[in-house]
Amino acid sequence: MEQVTRRKAFGVMASAGTGVALANMLTSGSALGEVGRSETPSPAPAGGGAFGGKHQPKPLPFNPSQLTGLSSHLIQSHWENNYGGAVKALNAIEVKLGSVLRDKDLAPYMYADLKREQLLRIGSVVLHELYFENLGGDGKPAGDIAAALTSWFSDVGTWDTEFRKIANGLAGGSGWVVLGYNAHLKQLTNSWAWDHAHNAAGATPLLVMDMYEHAYHMDYGAAAAKYIDAFMANVNWDIVNERYAVAVKGCGDVR
Ligand SMILES: [Fe+2]
Repeated sequence: MEQVTRRKAFGVMASAGTGVALANMLTSGSALGEVGRSETPSPAPAGGGAFGGKHQPKPLPFNPSQLTGLSSHLIQSHWENNYGGAVKALNAIEVKLGSVLRDKDLAPYMYADLKREQLLRIGSVVLHELYFENLGGDGKPAGDIAAALTSWFSDVGTWDTEFRKIANGLAGGSGWVVLGYNAHLKQLTNSWAWDHAHNAAGATPLLVMDMYEHAYHMDYGAAAAKYIDAFMANVNWDIVNERYAVAVKGCGDVR
C-alpha cells in the first residue's frame, strides 16, 4: 500500500476542501497517519490573544418578546444558532491558526484559506452584534442622525427609500444593508453587502440590517418585504445616534 506522506496529504486537502476542513484534518491526523506524525513533530502553537479563541456571545440587549412584528422564537433562534454559531466558529479558527502558524509544511495559500474563513466569521460576529444592538427601539429617526440623513439624502424619507430598496434587492438571497459613516469620504452612505466580509472601505457601520433568510423566514417565509417593514419599525435610533457621534468624533470631524 502506498504510504501517505505529509506533503501528499496537503495536496489532497488543497483540492478537496475548505479551510476549515483542511484545519480539522491537520489536527486530527486523519490524512497524515502516524508515519507523518513521527517524521515531523508538530511545532508549538503560536501564543497571544490573536490565537486565543476566547470570544463570548453578547446577550440580547432587549426583551425579544417585546419587538413589533418579529417573534421571540425567531430572534432567539437567530441569536443562538446563527450568531452563537459564528462566535464558536471564530474561536475555533483562531485556535487553529495558532496551531498551524509555524508548520513549515503548510503552504501559505492554505494558511490564507483559513484567514479567509476568519474574515467571514469576524464579519458575522461583528455585524450580528451590531444588528441585535440596533433593534429594540421605536423605529423613528431622531436627533443628530436624523439631521445628518436629511443633509445627505435631502430628507429622511429618501434615505429610507434607498435603504429599503437595497434590502429588497437582497431578498431571497443573503447579505447585509449598512448605513455607515465614511471617515475618508466624510459622508453617510447606504451600502450593499453580499456576505459577512463586505463592508464599504472607510465606513463605520451605524445601522445594520441582516438580509439572510434566517433573519426572517421563520416569521415571514419568502415575504422579505414584510420583514423589512418589521425591522424598520424596531430600529433603535438612540443606538444609531450613539454610533454616529463616536464615528464622527473618532475621525476628528465636526458635525
Ligand atoms: Fe443573521
